[in-house]
Amino acid sequence: MLTRPRLRFFTALRSPISTRRLATESRLASDHVRIVEVGPRDGLQNEKQSISMETKLDMIQRLAKTGVTTIEAGSFVPAKWVPQMASTSEICQKLLVSPPSAQHTIAYNYLVPNIKGLESLVKIMDETGVPADATGVDSKAATTTEISLFAAATEAFSKANTNCTIAESLERIKPIVALAKTRNIRVRGYVSVALGCPYEGPEVNPSTVADITASLLEMGADEVSVADTTGMGTAPRTMELLQALKAAGIANTDLALHFHDTYGQALVNTLVGLEHGIRIFDSSVGGLGGCPYSKGATGNVSTEDLIHTVHSLGMHTGVNLEEMSRIGSWISGELGRANDSRAGKATLGRLSG
Ligand code: HMG
Ligand code: MG
Repeated sequence: MLTRPRLRFFTALRSPISTRRLATESRLASDHVRIVEVGPRDGLQNEKQSISMETKLDMIQRLAKTGVTTIEAGSFVPAKWVPQMASTSEICQKLLVSPPSAQHTIAYNYLVPNIKGLESLVKIMDETGVPADATGVDSKAATTTEISLFAAATEAFSKANTNCTIAESLERIKPIVALAKTRNIRVRGYVSVALGCPYEGPEVNPSTVADITASLLEMGADEVSVADTTGMGTAPRTMELLQALKAAGIANTDLALHFHDTYGQALVNTLVGLEHGIRIFDSSVGGLGGCPYSKGATGNVSTEDLIHTVHSLGMHTGVNLEEMSRIGSWISGELGRANDSRAGKATLGRLSG
C-alpha cells in the first residue's frame, strides 16, 4: 500500500490585493497560466463522424481570436490509424500561408508520431517558404510552428498507441528532436498514461513517468506535458507524481499537465498542479477529446472550465472566457454532441439572460 502525500489545499494560491500590487515581474509571471488549446487535435481525433477540413480551420480561426497562444492544430499520423486527422497537411499549409488574424503570437502545434510525420511537416514548410518562426506584417501577429511527440509510461499503452516498446519509442524520438532543432521548431513531449493506463490499471509508477520525462528533456524537448490519458488521476496521486518529478530534478517551468476528465477530477488535479507551481495546462474547448487507444476515457478538461477556475483564483490566462464559451457551443453543435463545459454553458446562459 503506497503512502500518499498530504495535500495542503490551496490556501496559498490567492494572495491579498496589496501583495499582488507590490509584486515583482517574476511574481506577476507566476500568476500567469498558459493554456495549450488541444481541441482541434485531441478534441477531434476521436470523433466518430467525419469533420470537414473547413470546419476544423474555422475552429482554429475562431480560437486564434480568443487570446490563447498555443493551438494544437492536427497530427501527422497515418489516416488508417487516426482518420479524423487526415486533413492535417491541408490545414497546416493554410495556416502557414494565411495565418488567422490575431493580436499576439500564436504557436500552431502538430503531433508527430515518428520522423515521417515531421518530414511531412517540414516538406510543407519548405513548399510554402514559411519558417518555424514567422513574423507577420504586424509583428504582434507572428506565428510559430511547433511539434509534439509522445511516449507512454506503460508498455501496454506504448504498444497500442505507437506499435513499439517504451525504449523503442524513445529511440524513435531522438532523430525527430534532432531534425526539429535544425529547423528551429520548438518541441513538446507528452508522457501518456502518467496517472492510469487502460490496460495496466491506475497504479502507474511515478518514477517511470519521471524517468521518461527526464529522457525527453535531455533529448532536447522544450517542455513535457504529463498526461492523465484515462482521467484516473486523483488529487493525492497527482501530488505524488509531481513530487516524483521534482525529486528527479525536473523544473516546474519545463512541465505542463494534460488532464482528461473521465472521472470529473481534472479541475481538482489542476488545483494540485497549480499549488505545486505548474503554470502550463492543456485543455480542449467544449471538453472535447479522447484517445482512440484509451477506450472509455472521455474528453480533456474543458478550456472554459479551466479559464473560469484559474481566473477565480485571481490568476490570469489572457484568454477570453466568453469568446471561448461561444466556440464551445458552436463546435459542439457542429459535431452534434452535448457541450461538456459547465462554465461555458453557464457563461452563455448569463450572457443571454
Ligand atoms: P506502424 O503501422 O507501426 O508504422 O505505425 P510503420 O512505420 O510500419 O508504417 C506503416 C504505414 O504507415 C506505411 O505505409 C508508412 O509509410 C505509413 P504503407 O507502406 O503501409 O503504405 N506511415 C505514415 N503515414 C503518414 N504519416 C506518418 C506515417 N508513419 C508511417 N507519420 C505509428 C506506427 C507510430 C505511425 C502509428 O502507431 C501511429 O500513427 N500512432 C499514433 C496513434 C495516435 O495518433 N494516437 C493518438 C494521439 S496520442 C494521444 O492522443 C495522447 C495525448 O493526447 C496525450 C494523452 O492524453 O495521453 C497526446
Ligand atoms: Mg490527450
